[in-house]
Amino acid sequence: MKTAKKLKKAITKKTKWVILNSPSNPTGAGYTKKEITDLAKVLIKNKKVHILSDDIYEHIKYDNFNFYTIAQNSKLKDRTLTMNGVSKSYAMTGWRIGYAAGPKNIIKAIGKIQSQSTSNPSSISQAAAVEALNGSQGFIQKRSKAFKDRRDFVVKSLNNIKGITCLTPNGAFYVFPSCKGLLNKKTKLKTDTAFVQKLLEKSNVAVVQGSAFGLDGYFRISYATSMQNLKKAMERIKFFCESLS
Ligand SMILES: Cc1ncc(COP(=O)(O)O)c(C=O)c1O
Repeated sequence: MKTAKKLKKAITKKTKWVILNSPSNPTGAGYTKKEITDLAKVLIKNKKVHILSDDIYEHIKYDNFNFYTIAQNSKLKDRTLTMNGVSKSYAMTGWRIGYAAGPKNIIKAIGKIQSQSTSNPSSISQAAAVEALNGSQGFIQKRSKAFKDRRDFVVKSLNNIKGITCLTPNGAFYVFPSCKGLLNKKTKLKTDTAFVQKLLEKSNVAVVQGSAFGLDGYFRISYATSMQNLKKAMERIKFFCESLS
């Protein structure tokens, strides 16, 4: 079923917010402009639903994927909250700077809560984030190329393992392979959780089970690490999977 149709089916009278995250954690998948436009058509009709668009992976994308965000649809702008931050695009996770744009009343409420809980993000972090956003953006392309090489290596390596299949995502730094081919009587593994636990115990490779994100039979790998680490990890995963049957 197409995603827009699924969304239409999932919205009920109780639905207040829909969260979009493209490119996505955990799958790395990004919605095309057409897919977002189809989702927007459903949301335009559901006037009570607000939209939270988490655009944190905006600049981490491959294969000429065009980033598009739902606030670009003017009919939804007044009930869309768009979020972003410097953690991913500028590798500034430790600086703890995120930001949002949206309807005045929501932004005002966010400010109220934040000022009472953390007062404000540190002025040093704010200055660094301004420099990141206003400074030269040239490195983003170079970095994307390094990530793309890692993605291609990881996807190819996983598809060379019997029982594992993996799609090629167009953004972020995650892949979300299926391990369904290894969940059977022979391997004595019933769930993705059992698979990732055994992998950790036997091979010292940490991945996250798909069911933690709502989809059993898959697991998430982050390839935001060195090629050297990824080579070691892929060898270990292959050895582990082959030892199961
Ligand atoms: C989808 C998504 N949104 C937001 C974040 C926020 O990251 P941070 O708290 O470092 O700004 C992350 C980090 O993993 C993420 O994957």
